[in-house]
Amino acid sequence: MAGEVNVLRGVDLTVEGGETVGVVGPSGSGKSTLLMVIAGLERATSGTVRVAGHDLSALDEDALARFRRGAVGIVFQSFHLVPTMTALENVAIPLELAGARDAFDLAAAELGAVGLAHRLSHYPGQLSGGEQQRVALARAFVARPKLLLADEPTGNLDQATGRAIVELLFDLHGRHGTTLLLVTHDPALAARCGRVVHVEDGRIAADARQEGGRVVPIRR
Ligand SMILES: Nc1ncnc2c1ncn2[C@@H]1O[C@H](COP(=O)(O)OP(=O)(O)OP(=O)(O)O)[C@@H](O)[C@H]1O
Ligand SMILES: [Mg+2]
Repeated sequence: MAGEVNVLRGVDLTVEGGETVGVVGPSGSGKSTLLMVIAGLERATSGTVRVAGHDLSALDEDALARFRRGAVGIVFQSFHLVPTMTALENVAIPLELAGARDAFDLAAAELGAVGLAHRLSHYPGQLSGGEQQRVALARAFVARPKLLLADEPTGNLDQATGRAIVELLFDLHGRHGTTLLLVTHDPALAARCGRVVHVEDGRIAADARQEGGRVVPIRR
């Protein structure tokens, strides 16, 4: 047991639907923890977390699981695909959990949208890192979540592959209007977002929108 560790302190953050937010800050500052709390994968010990109309602090475990399935998609640095399932099966998971009858057809279409129509029956171990992250993106977007959380999605990829994944991420955001929260150590990637939040020592140290090349601080 690690005991109680206060990672986030006094975080007050409101993100509008459809925004793209880059979350930056030193290693250990609490960026991943912030994402996990928003995803409903970690519970905040105090305070309120509202996502897409749900008050996460008021949900029991079952309701929280339903929230995660329906409202959020998550992409990690290390892909997190199920190794014993094909690309198609991995992408179909969220749809099957949601009870969709045509899960495999929808999953195949989504893999087509990320350029992997020819890799449906491959297992993660048979795919390159960039291809695995495409599968992860397809899985994250396939149920059309309101919010997409990405934790260093290009961290394990070479520059060119990472750039392609970023293009795809913003393309999917543009197509579906998904709100995007993106943790990154890459300043160029953060600069692609309409807003950049700096986390330091569990607090939001700076928060600014980028408007027509100008950086406009958000008062809090
Ligand atoms: N489950 C946990 N139990 C105890 N401490 C934790 C737990 N998860 C994270 N921490 C601590 O919280 C702090 C913030 O961790 P977090 O992973 O959120 O940082 P980060 O900003 O994502 O860092 P990085 O850029 O290295 O990924 C660290 O000091 C970490 O050790
Ligand atoms: Mg992290």
